[in-house]
Amino acid sequence: MTDIAVSIKGLYKIFGKNPKKALSRIKQGMSKQDLLEKHNHVLGLNDINIEIPEKQISVIMGLSGSGKSTLIRHINRLMEPTAGEVIIGGENVVEMSKNQIRDLRLHKASMVFQKFGLHVHRTISENVAYGLIVQGMKSDEAKKKSHKWLVRVGLEGFEDHYPSQLSGGMQQRVGLARALATDADILLMDEAFSALDPLIRFDMQNILLELQEELHKTIIFITHDLDEALRIGDQIAILRDGEVIQQGDPQQIILKPNDDYIIDFIKDINRGRVIMAKSLAEKGRKNQGPSVNFKTVLEDVLPIIAKSKSQKVNVVDDQDKFIGVLNLESVIDAMARPNIEVSETYR
Ligand SMILES: Nc1ncnc2c1ncn2[C@@H]1O[C@H](COP(=O)(O)OP(=O)(O)OP(=O)(O)O)[C@@H](O)[C@H]1O
Ligand SMILES: [Mg+2]
Repeated sequence: MTDIAVSIKGLYKIFGKNPKKALSRIKQGMSKQDLLEKHNHVLGLNDINIEIPEKQISVIMGLSGSGKSTLIRHINRLMEPTAGEVIIGGENVVEMSKNQIRDLRLHKASMVFQKFGLHVHRTISENVAYGLIVQGMKSDEAKKKSHKWLVRVGLEGFEDHYPSQLSGGMQQRVGLARALATDADILLMDEAFSALDPLIRFDMQNILLELQEELHKTIIFITHDLDEALRIGDQIAILRDGEVIQQGDPQQIILKPNDDYIIDFIKDINRGRVIMAKSLAEKGRKNQGPSVNFKTVLEDVLPIIAKSKSQKVNVVDDQDKFIGVLNLESVIDAMARPNIEVSETYR
């Protein structure tokens, strides 16, 4: 069983003069649009329930205005909810005192910002050390620690540079080093890579994935980019108009999208690069043919299957234990983007 790091329960956020009144209207079934047009209130979040597992990357994805930033800001209480709870380590963030919130932000949940949020008049090293000094660490020690993390993100030698002397990708590595240096278990990343060029962005995703293999942080990562979500997310929650419309791992989202909006969202992805052998393996007997690891993507399974006489492969786990059989037909079916139907079982 995976432990839950953050549990969000019945969270609502309504912007406007009288959010409580507006909330009762929403609970009685009024739409977001009517609430805006008739009562001039914006429904930011509508009954969000998400359990965020420890030590995984949980992606929150949605188009602009879907409520992603509003949601993540409730986790470290940069925003007050209209109703609901955010539980971290058994405590409800919504009820925490000022001191507890300060402690949460300094030690438990660090944020990495889209626009990097670096102090322009401080050096790179000072930028990373700053948060540690605020935590009460002596400046020598903070400097040492900041050096350690700057090395980890590949910025050794840049300690005395100023942010403006660094490229965007490098500045965001500073942002990452700064968040990691606090030793917080939870990283909150709101579109942290969205301002970067595609290649640099890809590099940053790699850096994050590499660090995560070792550090096992609980990362809450916001993006509007499906490729990014599929690439780095262990779990994905999709938001639309302030509501979670599907939660699951990337395989579930692609293979069992639970409404037309998501079907539309995923229609252009390269399915062969995302769907893994494990998702299509069927029960059966181990055959004479070749074996593939369960995480092999279909694009790489295809040539192996095509060459095998039986047009089947065995799917095995990391310990080479047999999981099931995968045949050519189901690989082609899954890759060809058949008319995906909303799965009844998944609903
Ligand atoms: N302070 C505010 N006052 C009024 N409405 C707000 C406020 N902040 C956010 N909203 C509204 O709440 C909804 C969700 O906004 P939010 O910024 O969370 O979306 P987002 O998914 O982060 O979008 P983006 O991808 O553009 O960053 C939008 O309709 C937005 O206009
Ligand atoms: Mg946002």
